[in-house]
Amino acid sequence: MKIAPSMLACNFSEMGNEIKKITKAGADLVHMDVMDGNFVPNISFGAGIIKSLRKLTHLPFDVHLMILKPLLYLDEFATSGADSITFHIESESNPFNTIKKIQKLNKKAGISLKPDTDIAKVLPFLPFIDIILVMTVEPGFGGQNFLMSQLAKIEKLRNIINDNKFNCVIEVDGGINFDTVKLVQKAGADICVAGTSLFKSENMHEAIQKMKNF
Ligand code: DX5
Ligand code: ZN
Repeated sequence: MKIAPSMLACNFSEMGNEIKKITKAGADLVHMDVMDGNFVPNISFGAGIIKSLRKLTHLPFDVHLMILKPLLYLDEFATSGADSITFHIESESNPFNTIKKIQKLNKKAGISLKPDTDIAKVLPFLPFIDIILVMTVEPGFGGQNFLMSQLAKIEKLRNIINDNKFNCVIEVDGGINFDTVKLVQKAGADICVAGTSLFKSENMHEAIQKMKNF
């Protein structure tokens, strides 16, 4: 299992040090939650902050756009140092145009879906994307409880991806801790995002290792 700590849960006044801490602790990716106060009822940070952190780590930046019009901001996030850009299927941008533009910018393209969104909505795009990001909480806030109802969705996606040999990884986001990581691993996830559980742990290195190899 690859682990992507979410910067949403870090100490915002110490973002530079937090990213160094994640790197030393053995994280695989850095997850950046971008929220616009429209698509979700919360505002986090944008491309300027991401850019300022880019030089502090070699880890890939996994940018999760929870914004209404992702297509309009892709250049900005690509320039900020994103390695993958994931947008929501429920956003207002045309999914095919958004995927095409992300890949034209030489970034991995991801689609995310909210807990109430049926997987039928993302199936047409699976052959073309690099990441499918399954939300296991309502997007907008860290620290929520994992929604068990989403495990079946992860399993279905795993089967579809395997059966069709699609080149797409399954990432799971929300409420991941030492218990839920086991459930999503069993369901077929490749990458787990973890915010609160990692940043609240006393020893981030131990916590990440425990999640990777339980
Ligand atoms: C929620 C974000 C998540 C969040 C996860 O909208 O997409 O990445 O930071 O936080 P935890 O791990 O605390 O649920
Ligand atoms: Zn996220």
